[in-house]
Amino acid sequence: MLRSVTLAPADDPHTPQALVMFRFQGSSLDGLVRKQPEAVARAIRAAAERPEGTGETGKIAEAFPEGAGLPGRVLLVGLGKPEKFGHEALRSGASAAARRLAHTREGRVGIALTSDADEAGGGLDPEQAGRVIGEAFGLLAWDHRQFKGKGDPESKPRPEITLACDRKPVRRGIERGLALAGSVNLARTLSETPPNIATPAFVADQAKKLAKELGLGFMALSGKDLEKERLTGHINVGKASENAPVMVRLEYRPDKVKKGREKPAVLVGKTMCYDTGGLSLKVNNGMVGMKRDKDGGCAVLGAMHAIATVVRPARPVVAILCAAENSVSDEAYRPDDVLTFRNGVTVEVTNTDAEGRLVLADGLCWACEKEDPAYIIDLATLTGGVVTALGSTYCGMFCEDDDLRGRVERAAALSAERVWRLPMHQEYREMMKSPIADILNSNPNRKAHPIQGAAFLSYFVTDKVPWCHLDIAGVHATESDSGPMVKGPTGWGVRLLADLLAQD
Ligand code: BES
Ligand code: MN
Ligand code: ZN
Repeated sequence: MLRSVTLAPADDPHTPQALVMFRFQGSSLDGLVRKQPEAVARAIRAAAERPEGTGETGKIAEAFPEGAGLPGRVLLVGLGKPEKFGHEALRSGASAAARRLAHTREGRVGIALTSDADEAGGGLDPEQAGRVIGEAFGLLAWDHRQFKGKGDPESKPRPEITLACDRKPVRRGIERGLALAGSVNLARTLSETPPNIATPAFVADQAKKLAKELGLGFMALSGKDLEKERLTGHINVGKASENAPVMVRLEYRPDKVKKGREKPAVLVGKTMCYDTGGLSLKVNNGMVGMKRDKDGGCAVLGAMHAIATVVRPARPVVAILCAAENSVSDEAYRPDDVLTFRNGVTVEVTNTDAEGRLVLADGLCWACEKEDPAYIIDLATLTGGVVTALGSTYCGMFCEDDDLRGRVERAAALSAERVWRLPMHQEYREMMKSPIADILNSNPNRKAHPIQGAAFLSYFVTDKVPWCHLDIAGVHATESDSGPMVKGPTGWGVRLLADLLAQD
């Protein structure tokens, strides 16, 4: 939609070609027209007279001031009623404005946020407002045409936008929003990459490049190393594919570790580069889109980018990507196999399509044993059941640790990546018991499917380690353009994890 978005320096002498102004429904125009040249003030008043200029959420009215040295276009963007205001309204308003500007030739865009917005009921401070605006523009600059070739040349040029804003806290926010959007876009690009390119080795290579660029520690375990480390899930899930499994480890170390923040936060991502279902093969087109079964890992990688470039927390952070391809061959693992994991737990395979939990099990028990984690968060496109339960509105969250859950919920509120808690109970853990091994990878009874996934994983996390499992199967991609996202990957989790570490 947009080619690029940058923030102009504070003392930028250029007049913006377009001016984006935000308006509350029913509010006076005084704050907006103040300090504006008469021709611009007149244009704002004219826009506000239009039926789409009343300030309703998401509505945009345009007006065109005339005169030398003036912006030629004013967008009056509705924020809805001030008493109902929150960042969702600003996010959709800013996204709508950016989409509108994508169709113009005006690259220099002034952002005017009157102080009304700061004082509105949503409690949005100017820096947070700036961040929301920066994110919206930055996310719309994701290149969704990377795999277009000569057969479908782009018909319209995409504008390069320079945002201008003179209020310091808003500027700071815009800068942060743009940077975070860059990290999200990195996750989206990897998600979009098709499975004939994005193999586990490719993902490991991308992680290695990123680590080099950002000064992160890097390690990848594959082949014999997986055996040495008894990473059973990777070995078995991955063995049917020529694209061999890899477990990738990245490490961020702060320049100065804060006292009491010595233990790392560990982020684990399901990185299934393709999920055919294995011998329990997916039927009826159920396979289409399974290149995105790596989105947990993509989000973790994007989050590491944000952590190393934007957040820079005083706590170390370890990322573990459990990368494999769930394929079919005479070497494939089968239903009825029994696998012994690194922590001694034995698993009876009942369904090779419940593969994500097997590679995650490796990542989780590795983390508990080797990393001495302060806490673990895993992200995984784990179950279709969570999509049935929560749709694409909330991510399914499992976290029995009140403190960690509170922090995840606060980060979710800041990032607008919504989480909804689902329950855990010993009865669900009992459902996973196997008559011949310790546990099953899937109970043939389809009851409580997303919870079964979490219950299975709980067998691989040491009791005292605070742990949060995020089932992102419903939120990792969107079927239609909405807000700052276009149809395709959302990079869900990058901002939530960045905000979580920013509070830490
Ligand atoms: N990757 C899928 C889950 C999924 C489904 C992600 C739809 C995104 C959209 C996972 O590996 C899977 O196949 N889950 C099965 C588990 C079952 C066979 C035990 C499911 O949820 O149906
Ligand atoms: Mn599967
Ligand atoms: Zn899967």
